[in-house]
Amino acid sequence: MAPSSIDLSGQVAIVTGAAGGLGRAYALALAERGAAIVANDLGGDTRGEHGMPSLAEAVAEDIRAKGGKAVANADTVATKAGGEAITQAALDHFGRVDIVINNAGNQRNALFEDLTEEDIESVLAVHLKGAFFVTQPAYRLMKRQGYGRIVFTSSQSGVFGNPYRANYGAAKTGVIGLMRVLVQEAPESIRVNSVMPNASGSRMGTPGEERVDKDFIAAMMARGNAYAERMAPDYTAALVTWLASRDCDVTGQVYSVLRGNYARVFSARCEGWIPAGARRPEPEDVAANLAAVASGGAWHEPQSGIDEGDIVRAALDRSLG
Ligand code: NAI
Repeated sequence: MAPSSIDLSGQVAIVTGAAGGLGRAYALALAERGAAIVANDLGGDTRGEHGMPSLAEAVAEDIRAKGGKAVANADTVATKAGGEAITQAALDHFGRVDIVINNAGNQRNALFEDLTEEDIESVLAVHLKGAFFVTQPAYRLMKRQGYGRIVFTSSQSGVFGNPYRANYGAAKTGVIGLMRVLVQEAPESIRVNSVMPNASGSRMGTPGEERVDKDFIAAMMARGNAYAERMAPDYTAALVTWLASRDCDVTGQVYSVLRGNYARVFSARCEGWIPAGARRPEPEDVAANLAAVASGGAWHEPQSGIDEGDIVRAALDRSLG
């Protein structure tokens, strides 16, 4: 069956970090399908400093030149006031918000032991707190209007882990926790999902900073060259456009896009080890049963924390009942 034609006419999308490689691709892709765009970006360097508002304006101008609707916004995502101003820009210019793409990002890479307080605070502020501050005011509107699509941006650097990125990885995995809780609270009409992009031609893909070992970067670049042509931001933009659309019928999912490969990434648990009898196990008992702890029984993908409780209760009923 041919895919349905995604039409975003009449809808309004906020894209944060829209001046960068991925954000710019998302803004252009959503506009091409008819959405009016708030192209947010403070126009900073990769550390999120030295802002240039003209960069967001350039993206909005590109969209308008193609016949689309767009307005630039240069507020930071990293504060409550900034997040509110971004939603307000959407209301002032287009009267509503249907879509929020949380994409803005910065990086301060260093070995864990070398990260300064400022490195930690600034990266958590943009990626994690920014996801709260931008999404909260828009979500309140979405609840009132009974419709919304929210996309968060995670990363393999957190979900699977990459060196030099403890601050970034923690923030990027934090947004998955935020998403999972929001999905429990949100009405069905609001779909919330996350992407783990990988793209060249944008800046977050490589930890290129003076505190990162040059040999590590060279090795990473060499491995990253395979199928480099499939690393264009447009690959992720195709997924994000679907997640942003009315056609999107999933929620609470995480999708990786890597070298043109699209894959759902999920958290699962095995049934594990259930000690028999009433005696509380000693540490040695746990160690002796580690194979069962690691992979015993069937695998389950809990849909919530409460769901995990039900899975364990059923396993206990079978084992002890
Ligand atoms: P980029 O650096 O090209 O774009 C990020 C944009 O966010 C920049 O234009 C920057 O000015 C803007 N920004 C930074 N701080 C901001 C703030 N406080 N308020 C508003 N805007 C701000 O980065 P790229 O590579 O396009 O990454 C986009 C997103 O995808 C980021 O969240 C990044 O962490 C994530 N990502 C990217 C990967 C890649 O391979 N490029 C891999 C995994 C995740």
